[in-house]
Amino acid sequence: MTTKPIPVAMCGLGRWGPNLLRNLRENPCCTVAALCDRDQGSLDATAPLHPGVRVYTSIGDVAADEGIRAAVVATPAGLHHDHVSLLLESGKDVLVEKPLAMTLGEATKLVDRARELGRILMVGHTFLFNPAVRRVKSEIDNGTLGDLHLILAQRLSLGSIRTDCNALWNLAPHDISILLHWLGRLPDRVSARGIAFHEGHKQEDIALCVLEFPGRVMASIHVSWLNPVKVREMTIVGSNRMLTYNDVNTAEPLVLHDQGVSEVPLMDPEGSFERFQLQVRRGESKPLAVDQAEPLALEVDHFLDCITTRREPIGSGTEALRVSSVLEALDLSLKRGGETVVPQPVTEGASK
Ligand SMILES: NC(=O)c1ccc[n+]([C@@H]2O[C@H](COP(=O)([O-])OP(=O)(O)OC[C@H]3O[C@@H](n4cnc5c(N)ncnc54)[C@H](O)[C@@H]3O)[C@@H](O)[C@H]2O)c1
Repeated sequence: MTTKPIPVAMCGLGRWGPNLLRNLRENPCCTVAALCDRDQGSLDATAPLHPGVRVYTSIGDVAADEGIRAAVVATPAGLHHDHVSLLLESGKDVLVEKPLAMTLGEATKLVDRARELGRILMVGHTFLFNPAVRRVKSEIDNGTLGDLHLILAQRLSLGSIRTDCNALWNLAPHDISILLHWLGRLPDRVSARGIAFHEGHKQEDIALCVLEFPGRVMASIHVSWLNPVKVREMTIVGSNRMLTYNDVNTAEPLVLHDQGVSEVPLMDPEGSFERFQLQVRRGESKPLAVDQAEPLALEVDHFLDCITTRREPIGSGTEALRVSSVLEALDLSLKRGGETVVPQPVTEGASK
């Protein structure tokens, strides 16, 4: 039995939207039925690639279009709550870019409402579809690294500078979603320092974050849109081995290092082993094979599959709530000069 392509609307045709749109266009499971952007110029430039497409300058018009079954939203983060809300209420399934909303409270309302209405709500945590990130997860789970000690993340570049949110809300959702995926739990406590360097802009350009996870696992996230070179790196330190993940090095993103530090017992003069010496072990480093699939293509395909099968997506609203909880705690710490903050537990139904 062949199923009819799902009619989808693409909302937001700025810097990122066209990437999602390309993947929608190339996916046989859907048809791009409508385009929406408040900027008529973006619509005029894009519509000719999609003969017969309906064009709208307001999300309300997309919501009112009964011929559309699902919407993909890549509008500015500060508008996500209102846009997703309108689309869910009109019965559409929604894939929205990260972050789901700008507060945990708003995000919880959206997740609760999607559940009440029986709608699919998926958040574009693209790295959950990244083959390198998934390979690291399986190396952690199968014990290659031993006990996890430390994860360091850096996401730095020059721009794009946002006016509607700071570098933390814009960039850190990726690292937080990756950490939560790898570790499977919320941090016990977090802290962050950051500075808004430009008067009149008032959004922090950098954030230096520390996250303490249960089991003595420490993580740090450094995000910035004020850096001369693009850096997308993570280092994962375990008791047996270490991994480096460089997302900019597409040919060889993952390297496993057979290195570590061991505690060697030292014989004291009485013959007991009460003292220990730390000994550095330097073994070989070897790249790990990683599929070359485009994460965004996998993400879009998964969304369309969830629409058909009605299953809970990877990057579900619930997963996004955990990300929002950590983001909100880090932002609070940032505003309080680095005070330690405990992320709120995530409870669906809490918006009632
Ligand atoms: N997953 C990723 O790797 C990734 C990368 C970049 C951006 N993003 C996310 O994508 C989203 C958009 O980012 P961007 O860089 O494309 O932003 P952008 O500002 O370049 O584009 C936003 C677009 O939304 C349109 N818009 C604004 N208000 C609107 C409204 N009320 N109705 C309809 N259209 C409206 C604007 O005209 C613009 O074309 C953000 O949430 C961002 O975090 C994700």
